[in-house]
Formats: sequence, structure tokens, C-alpha cells
Amino acid sequence: MSDQNEVLFEIKREHLNTGLRGFPVGTCRTSSVDPLEGLHYVGYPIADLADLDPEAAAYLLLYKALPDADQLAAFKAELIKRSAVNPVVINTLKALPKEGHPMEWLIAGLNLLGMTSKTGSFEEDGLNVIARMPEVVAAIYRIRSGWGEPIASKPELGLIENFVQMLGVPGADPDKLTRLLRVFYVLHLDHGGGNLSTFVGKSVASGLADTYASLGGAMAALYGPRHGRANQDCLDFLRKVGTTDPDAVETFVRNELATGGLIFGFGHAVLRAEDPRAAVQYALGEQICPNDPLFITAKVMRERAVKVLKENPKVANPYPNVDAVSGTLLQAVGLEDSDYYTVLFGLSRCTGIAAQIIDERLKFRDGKGVAIYRCKYIAEGQPRRRLKA
Ligand code: MLT
Repeated sequence: MSDQNEVLFEIKREHLNTGLRGFPVGTCRTSSVDPLEGLHYVGYPIADLADLDPEAAAYLLLYKALPDADQLAAFKAELIKRSAVNPVVINTLKALPKEGHPMEWLIAGLNLLGMTSKTGSFEEDGLNVIARMPEVVAAIYRIRSGWGEPIASKPELGLIENFVQMLGVPGADPDKLTRLLRVFYVLHLDHGGGNLSTFVGKSVASGLADTYASLGGAMAALYGPRHGRANQDCLDFLRKVGTTDPDAVETFVRNELATGGLIFGFGHAVLRAEDPRAAVQYALGEQICPNDPLFITAKVMRERAVKVLKENPKVANPYPNVDAVSGTLLQAVGLEDSDYYTVLFGLSRCTGIAAQIIDERLKFRDGKGVAIYRCKYIAEGQPRRRLKA
């Protein structure tokens, strides 16, 4: 039994307006992020889980144990049963303005799923959203990028295998794409309780808005360039480096820093060592795209950007994060348009957030659920005044 009077964090005035950085807010049963050892799902280091079946990783976050073969088969069957998307969702997506960002489309897609199929149960809607999102995201890709009509779902193929067949990426090698997207999905599922999108999703749900509305809020948070959209910016940045020559890369990094630029894909709010999710992806890149020029640039950055960033003692974490190489691998297997990378992140992260929403709403505080989020702000610059004497 933990000591309910234990002091976890002393709030000083200097902590105000720092984005709740480091404030303990609640507990999380799905995952944890250690500054040095990185991400763990229910206690397992992420690198050990990277090759897991995506459905098994989702099961782990939902039920807090790895499934045995029978449990996994039953869970896959459950997702297949739940996978049908109301045609209104896809037809409405077809009418959206193409200039909208894919994340805006994703938020619309989640709202449409909610409008057409919410049950109001966090458990049911959580499972339904996990089962239905691949079709929605694939439709967003096809409709918005002009690849053609959405392709019919074959959920019996498996969550990611079906997603890849529904994407129908022109000219891509489906085996490599599947291999990458399976790992990408597992790596991006969850990252502790306090990352922005997860926190927002759980906050919205604490007002008892349904799962879809809560995930819509979460995805609006993920859309920001300081959060999920960093993976898009990161690939655009690597393309700008434009060389594989180590010395030229180092010069580029130094010039960027000297002119106040950011080194995308390096550093993290919590991590203080290389993100193990990045390490998994560098290793995967050696297998699926070792000669891709951007992959070579990304590897040189891993060495040279770290070297340069380490020279500045003010840089708390000079190491690569999850975004440092994910876009590089995606473009190498045929997903070249970086505008869609955050949607792929969202496809995965919604699963972790849905699992955390189920815990917060239905399990915590002996089933009473976490109270509605209501933190305190200290009034500033508001001396008492009267309009009339
Ligand atoms: C991540 O996956 O790295 C996050 O969502 C960002 C964070 O942990 O704040």
C-alpha cells in the first residue's frame, strides 16, 4: 500500500507556466518512460516488444499482460468482428477540402466514426476505434492524395496487413511496407501518461465526452509541430541536409545552430539518452533500406549532430528521439509524402490513449474513475477593481 501522504513534488512559483513539466498528476498502468532506459510497456522494454504482433502489443496495453496464443487469436477475432466502418464516414471524407492537413482529416474521421457508431461505453468504443481506424486512415491517404477510390477492407489479414492492402501505395513493396508499419505501430502506441496528446485525450474524457471526441481532442494535440507533427518536420529537415558526407553534415548542423535553427529529431522532454525507439528503427533501416541516401544521412546525424549538440552544456538531451529516423524509413519504402506521417503516428497512438482512457474512466479509484480534470491557475495582473464607485 503506498503512503498516501508521501510528498512527490514540491511546487514552487518557478514551476508555474512550465507546462506541468515533471508534475505528477496521476498514475499510468500502460507504460512508463525512464529518462535513461526509455519506454516500457507494462514493464517490458520497448526494444523487446518491437517485433511483436501489433494486436499483441495493443492487447498488452489494454489488459496489462501479453496474450497467449488462444488469447491473441480471440482478440484478433474480436477486432475483425468490430472492424466495419459505416459507409457514411468514407463518403463524407470524400467531400473534405483536399488542402486540409491529413491530421485535420483524421480529426474529422474520428468525429465521423463517433457520429455514426459510438456506443457510449469507453471499453466498447475503445476496441471499436482500434479496429476501425486502419480503414479510416487508409481512406484518408487514398482520397486526399488522389491514389484512387478507397480499397475494400479485408480485416482477416491482420490490423497492419489489412492497412497496407487498403493503402495500395503505388509502386511500393508491400512486404517491406508491412514489416516497417508493424514495427512503427508498436513503437508509437503509448509513451507514458503525460505526453500532450494522451493527457488531452484523458482530460477530455474526464468530462465524460465519449472516446471519439476525446481522441479527436488528443489528435488535435498530436497535430502540433512540437508534438506528433515533429516527425513530418524531421524528414523535411533531413531532406534539407542534402548530403551524406559526415563533415558536410556536421557543418550543416553547426550552421543551423549558429542561425538559431533547430536540429529536428534530437532531444526529448523526458528522455536523457538515445530513445530506444530510435535505436530499433536504425537497426530496421539496416535491413530494409541500408543504401537509401536519406537513411545514410540520418545515420551520420546520429553521430555528428550528437557530437555537436553535446558541446553545449545547456542541451539536456543531445540524442536522437523516435522521429529522428522514422520518416526516413517511411519514404524509403514508398510513403514519400511527409504530410501523412503524423496520421500514421496517430493511428497507433489512439490505441494507447484509448487504453489509458479505459483505465482512467473505469478502473482507477476502485472503479469510480479519475475526477474531472480541474487544475488551479493563480491569478496574475488582475487587481480587484469596480466598474462603479
Ligand atoms: C513521444 O512519443 O515521444 C511523445 O508522445 C512525446 C512525449 O513523450 O512527450
